[in-house]
Parts: sequence; structure tokens; C-alpha cells
Amino acid sequence: MSLADKLAAQIAQTGPLTMAQYMSACLHDPQFGYYATRPALGEAGDFVTAPLVSQMFGELIGVWAASAWTLMGEPERFRLVEMGPGDGTLMDDLLRAGRALPGFLEAADIWLVETSEPLAALQAQKLGDRVRWARSLDEVPGGAPLLLVANELLDCLPARQFVRAATGWTEQVVGIDRHGALTFGRVPAPIDLPDAREGAVLERSAPQEALGAMLGERLARDGGAALLIDYGRAAPGFGDTLQALRRHEKVDPLARPGEADLTVWADFPAVMSAAEQAGAEAAILTQAAFLARMGIGERAEALVRARPDKAPVIGRQLHRLVGGDQMGELFKACCLYSPDWVPPAFEPE
Ligand SMILES: C[S@@+](CC[C@H](N)C(=O)[O-])C[C@H]1O[C@@H](n2cnc3c(N)ncnc32)[C@H](O)[C@@H]1O
Repeated sequence: MSLADKLAAQIAQTGPLTMAQYMSACLHDPQFGYYATRPALGEAGDFVTAPLVSQMFGELIGVWAASAWTLMGEPERFRLVEMGPGDGTLMDDLLRAGRALPGFLEAADIWLVETSEPLAALQAQKLGDRVRWARSLDEVPGGAPLLLVANELLDCLPARQFVRAATGWTEQVVGIDRHGALTFGRVPAPIDLPDAREGAVLERSAPQEALGAMLGERLARDGGAALLIDYGRAAPGFGDTLQALRRHEKVDPLARPGEADLTVWADFPAVMSAAEQAGAEAAILTQAAFLARMGIGERAEALVRARPDKAPVIGRQLHRLVGGDQMGELFKACCLYSPDWVPPAFEPE
């Protein structure tokens, strides 16, 4: 039995799946889902994320969090939370950088929000008893300011897809063909959507919006900031962004479900608007602008001074993180924050 068989049997009984239901099963089915069974980050795995490109990424997020704590007036206790921490590299680099600011780590109550048991085990190996785990953000206690970071989390939160046909909006679904194989299909869209040209694709992620609303409500209540970094759009737009990656190659999202990482772009405008409606403020920069404002140029120079033999590698890593043709422009750093301050790097120019 495979996930394809399981989903085909389910579809035969109860009808087609929305893309969000399909994505959720592919990523989180307890028996076959990608994150439940085989998440593989890094060069030897399926995809590489920014913390795995260079230690500079996590270190600068550590500088961001420590500077934010200072700007907040050095609260005696705050929640330092990472959502979707992967193999724990970002938090490890963040904590190493955070040691430079006296009092910061002592004040931090550190939580990792993770749904994947194999990844939680890797995080435990790397971070040991410095952290605690929750399966969702609402398990992390409130009542203290929050500094939350999440890199490439929004892109794993499932989205529905709608396609504009000549007669009106349709919803993209996953059904089965007459041989019982998974196939894409379209049904009339059950919700009202803005007008668009024929062929336009619109994605809506209820879990991304719900996270924006939950963070907005919590930040407005407890104070603090959330830094969400991901690939995605900074302004509302159309397009099919569903992507399946296996061993660094794009593969057919319907072929071998559960064996590839399946993502959509972060819908930052929707996340920001949900947070604002819940009482928080929101701002967005490209990853290149955020890292430049946090001092990545100076950090790269310091690393080269310490290890001149590594200059070419460090140069390549820097380009990968900030280059316009690499992660620098497609990736955005979005900050949600309580209305009483402006977090580091997000001050208006
Ligand atoms: C693409 S990986 C990114 C890992 C890490 N942040 C990095 O940049 O290397 C996505 C992470 O989010 C986790 N994840 C996926 N869905 C989640 C959810 N609904 N809540 C919390 N974590 C989730 C995955 O298990 C994994 O740790």
C-alpha cells in the first residue's frame, strides 16, 4: 500500500480532494506523509534552505532577535520560538550569536514548534535540553513577549487553487482517472473570487492566514515580533506556485505522493492583512535587503578575515543568500509586530 493507493481509495469513496487536502496528506499523513516519514534537508537530501547555505543566516537572525530584545527594554522573561525548525541549524546558530549579548539567553524561554517527529529528533540531538517542543503555537504559553522566527514554514502550509475558466472560477482538485490513477480535475469554485482573465490561477491558504491572525492577536496582546522568511509574493497576484521537490529536482506533484516535499509560495499579503486585522503591524523586505540591513556584508568580511582560505566559499554562500538571481529577491522577510515599536531592520527608510 502506498499513499497514492490510500488517496485513490479515499477519493473513490468520498470524492476529489482540494489541493490543500492533497498537500496536507502528502506532507503529514501519519503513515506515509513526507514530514512524518522521510524529511531530508541539505545537499544529500531533497532541498537546501538558507540556514544550511551558511551559518551567517542563523547568526544574523540571532543578532536580529537579540537587538529586538534590547529595543523591547530587555524584558526579564520572553518566549523565543522557532516554528518549523528543520534540523535545528538556524536555532543553533541563533543561540551562538545570542550569547554575545549579556542577559539575552538567560531571559529566553525557548520553544520549537514542530509537527515532524523525525525532525524533532534531529533538533533534540543538536539543541539538547536548551529547548522545549510544542506541536502547535497555541501550546506555547502566552503572558510574556514573543520573539518568533520561521524560515520556510509558510510554504508548507497548504493552499487551495482556483483556475479562471471561460464560464467563471473553477477549483483545481485531485481525482482519479478510469484506471484509478491520481489526476487533476476542475469543479465549480464554491466561493466568490475577484475577477481575472481566463486561465488565471489564484491560491488561497487558510492555514497561512490563520497563522497570521494567531500571531497578530498574540503580538497585540503580549508584545514582540514574528519574523517569517520564505519565498513568495509581496503583493497580491496570480499564478500556480505548487512545486514538488525530490533530490533537488522538480517532480510531478501527483507522482509518488509523500516522497517529495510539496510547497506553495507564501502569501505574504494575506498573512500581513490577517495579522493587521488582529491588531498587529506588518512590514516586508526582500531577503537581500533584510540581510544587508542586519550586516551580512560585514559578517562575510569578518569570516574571510578569520579564514582567508575560505574566501571563495564564503563569497558563493553570500551570493546564494542575497543574489538577485538566487534567494535574495524571491525570498522575503516579513515582520509582524506589536504596535508599540518597530523591530530591527524594519524601520521605514
Ligand atoms: C522546509 S522545512 C524548513 C526547515 C528550517 N526552518 C530551515 O530553514 O532549514 C519546514 C519545516 O516546517 C515543519 N512544519 C511543516 N508543517 C508544519 C506545521 N504545520 N507546524 C509546524 N511545523 C511544521 C517541518 O517539519 C520542517 O521542520
